[in-house]
Amino acid sequence: MAYGMTVRRFMPFTVMKECAMSNEALVLYEIQGAIATLTLNRPKALNALSPELMAELATIMETLDEDDTVRCIVLTGGPRVFAAGADIKDMAERTSTSMVERRSFATWERVRKCRKPIIAAVSGYALGGGCELAMQCDMIVASETAQFGQPEIHIGIMPGAGGTQRLARALGPYRAMEMVLTGNMLSAREAHAAGLVNRVAPIESFLDEAHRLASEIASRAPVAIRLAREAVRHGVETTVRDGLEIERRNFYLLFNTEDQKEGMQAFIEKRPATYKGK
Ligand code: CAA
Repeated sequence: MAYGMTVRRFMPFTVMKECAMSNEALVLYEIQGAIATLTLNRPKALNALSPELMAELATIMETLDEDDTVRCIVLTGGPRVFAAGADIKDMAERTSTSMVERRSFATWERVRKCRKPIIAAVSGYALGGGCELAMQCDMIVASETAQFGQPEIHIGIMPGAGGTQRLARALGPYRAMEMVLTGNMLSAREAHAAGLVNRVAPIESFLDEAHRLASEIASRAPVAIRLAREAVRHGVETTVRDGLEIERRNFYLLFNTEDQKEGMQAFIEKRPATYKGK
C-alpha cells in the first residue's frame, strides 16, 4: 500500500473537537481494507508525545478496537522521526504531585488495552517515550535510519512508560541496563540483531514493509490472532506456569469458532480458507 493512499478516513467526535481547537490533528489516520495506519503529527516538536497527542492516539485506538473491519494497525511517525519522547517542555516545571495527580499514563493504558495487533513502523529517532511507545506495540519494523534509546538519564529522570521493563525483557538485563544508565542509542541494525526489531528496510520502503507484515496478519483468522496475541503478551508479563494456562485456555476456546472449522476444513480440502472472525 502506498503511503498516503486513503480509502476511509474517520475522525471520532472527541478528536474532531480537539482538532477544532488546535486546527490540526496530532494523530492522522487512514484505513485501507483491513489495515489502519496512524501517523503521529507534531513534526515541529519531533512528534514529542504531549498529553494532547496521547489523548488523541488513545481515542483513535479505542475507535479502531471497536471496528471489526480493522484487523491490524500500523503506527508510525513518518519517515523523519518516530517520536523524540514525552514532551519535556510540558514536564519541565512539574512536581511529583502534579505528575501523579494528572495521571500522566492513563492515556498510555488506554492505548495498551487495544486488542488489535499493532506494528510500529519506526524511522528516525524513537527516544524515551517514543521508544517505549514502539515497544508497547506488538512488532517493530524499522527504517535503516531508526535509532532507539532511553535518554531520560541526560535530563535527570528515568524511563517511566515501560522502558526499564520492556527493554530488559527484549534485550536482556545487561544491555538494557547499559542503555538506561548511559542514555546511548541503538541503531536499527543493532536493535534488529538484539531482538528489539522484527525487520529493517530502506527508508523509502519501511512503511510498505510494515504494511506487508500487517496484510499477512490481517489475512489470518481474527479470533485466533486475538487470543494468540493475548497469550504471548500475558506470557511476557507473568510466570511460565500462568502463561501456559492462558495459552491452553485460549487454545481450547478457539475450537468454538467457525474460523477453526473453516481453517481445518480448507486444509483438508486443499483450498484457501475464508475467515469471518467468528
Ligand atoms: N519534548 C519537547 N520538545 C522536543 C522534544 C521533547 N522530547 N524533543 C525535541 N523537541 C523539540 C525541540 O525542543 C525543538 O523545538 P524548537 O525548534 O522549538 O527548539 C525541536 O523539537 C527540534 O529538536 P532539536 O532542535 O533538538 O533537533 P535535533 O535534531 O538537534 O535533536 C534530538 C534531535 C536528539 C531528538 C533532541 O531533540 C533530543 O535530545 N530530544 C529529547 C530526547 C529526550 O530526552 N527524550 C526523552 C523525554 S522524557 C520521556 O520520554 C519520559 C518517559 O519515559 C515517558
